[in-house]
Amino acid sequence: MAIRNIREIGDPVLEKTCKEVTEVTPRIQELIDDMFDTLYEANGVGLAAPQVGILKRIVVIDTTGEDPMLLINPKIIETSGEQTGYEGCLSVPGKTGQVTRPNYVKAIAYDENMEPFEIEGTELLARAIMHELDHLEGHLYVEKVEGELQDVEEAEEE
Ligand code: NI
Repeated sequence: MAIRNIREIGDPVLEKTCKEVTEVTPRIQELIDDMFDTLYEANGVGLAAPQVGILKRIVVIDTTGEDPMLLINPKIIETSGEQTGYEGCLSVPGKTGQVTRPNYVKAIAYDENMEPFEIEGTELLARAIMHELDHLEGHLYVEKVEGELQDVEEAEEE
């Protein structure tokens, strides 16, 4: 278990498409454990493998601090509704911006035993799933920001 270095905007690894995971090897399991450690250390809501420099389709999400979720090879199968709100990213420190996302998302993913499962989320969880899946395609939320990217302190004063 270890904290990994979080790659920041401008790093080309954040712009690449990630590869599917075919098997959870001991090395991948270690990556997953480290991703959770890194997420909690940074007080984040989600982290995708490319953010620690690994181009694999692995995402960890925890919207409450008590609800760790691992998504391997996730795919969106349904979305509905719309929400607009502030979003941030551990790879874009100190910044935030308004992004519109679906308000409901259903996805299929694999767990650490490579067993498929469905996950549904609304509001923050739906936003986190969409945001993290974008990372796997090499996209950052800053591409979708409506208006200006703001400093976190400015946005909190509004
Ligand atoms: Ni992010």
